[in-house]
Amino acid sequence: MGKKVVGLALLILVGVGLVSFIYVLTNNKIVVGYNQGYAPEQPIPFPHDLHAGQYKIDCKYCHSQVEVSKHAAVPSLNVCMNCHMGVQVRAEAQKYIDQVTEAYNKGESIAWQKVHLLPDHVKFNHAAHVKAGKSCQTCHGPVETMQVMKQNASMAMGWCVNCHRQPENNAPLNCSTCHY
Ligand code: HEC
Ligand code: HEC
Ligand code: HEC
Ligand code: HEC
Ligand code: HEC
Repeated sequence: MGKKVVGLALLILVGVGLVSFIYVLTNNKIVVGYNQGYAPEQPIPFPHDLHAGQYKIDCKYCHSQVEVSKHAAVPSLNVCMNCHMGVQVRAEAQKYIDQVTEAYNKGESIAWQKVHLLPDHVKFNHAAHVKAGKSCQTCHGPVETMQVMKQNASMAMGWCVNCHRQPENNAPLNCSTCHY
């Protein structure tokens, strides 16, 4: 047997091994990548359409980690209080502002429900995409029109890979780019 054949056989074995290993790891979470349209109820109904749409508050004012970190992160309550110490809201919404203020005064936080959640074996990095000039809306859709935040894209592997494949994106395609 030539060295090439042995080499090829080994490569296939390692490949099959890796895929089954990842499969076993993710067996319980197979649906995680396919939550398109998921819009969980939030402890406080926070309207993106009002803040980012009508009042045109910059996404990065609240999601300030997005350019520097893997995670975009949800703002802490002092960011809300910068405005809600003073801003008048409609009477029906005052109870929500009272809840935010009370939590803030007690040093507590609001238990926002996560909308997007990739499986643990996937690597994603916000900063790299934002620096490459991709707008938030490319992946998250028209957030400035959403009364309730929802997952806009499938966020399945094919969705990521399709964009990475576009020649103008010059983005990496090897498995280890996106997988631990
Ligand atoms: C290339 C696609 C893409 C772009 C561009 C993008 N996001 Fe994301 N975003 C994602 C994915 C994928 C997740 C889920 C990440 C996870 O579960 O680890 C996510 C998650 C989030 C989260 C939840 C917290 C977190 O980091 O997991 C917030 C908030 C967020 N994005 C805001 C933004 C904002 C604001 C922008 C623009 C400045 C933006 N995103 C641009 C794909 C993108
Ligand atoms: C830059 C200023 C600003 C920041 C920061 C801000 N808000 Fe607001 N918020 C407003 C304005 C302006 C209104 C609308 C007032 C009106 O016209 O009724 C509003 C309205 C609201 C309402 C009432 C919505 C309704 O249905 O009428 C809620 C709830 C709310 N904000 C929650 C929050 C929370 C939670 C945060 C922090 C994550 C936050 N806001 C951060 C300016 C801000
Ligand atoms: C005034 C503050 C504020 C502004 C401005 C804002 N957001 Fe958010 N964002 C929040 C809060 C609070 C949450 C958590 C509650 C929720 O999901 O509705 C959130 C949640 C999100 C999530 C889902 C996070 C998860 O759990 O996966 C995404 C994506 C997101 N924002 C994107 C954006 C984009 C894109 C813009 C600009 C068009 C924007 N946000 C503007 C405060 C803000
Ligand atoms: C809209 C197009 C687009 C989508 C969708 C997209 N990416 Fe990317 N991605 C890019 C581009 C462009 C780059 C190259 C950034 C650069 O210049 O280094 C990149 C780079 C990366 C990198 C390398 C980051 C680094 O630190 O160099 C990772 C990891 C990555 N993407 C993961 C993902 C994952 C996981 C998904 C799906 C959940 C995804 N991407 C969806 C366009 C996209
Ligand atoms: C651009 C990013 C990206 C690249 C490159 C990529 N993947 Fe993925 N992969 C993902 C994301 C995101 C998921 C989770 C969502 C899903 O299951 O579709 C995933 C899921 C998987 C799963 C689990 C599928 C399931 O049903 O749970 C396996 C196995 C996998 N990838 C193997 C690979 C292999 C092998 C390669 C190289 C040939 C590769 N991936 C390259 C982003 C990527």
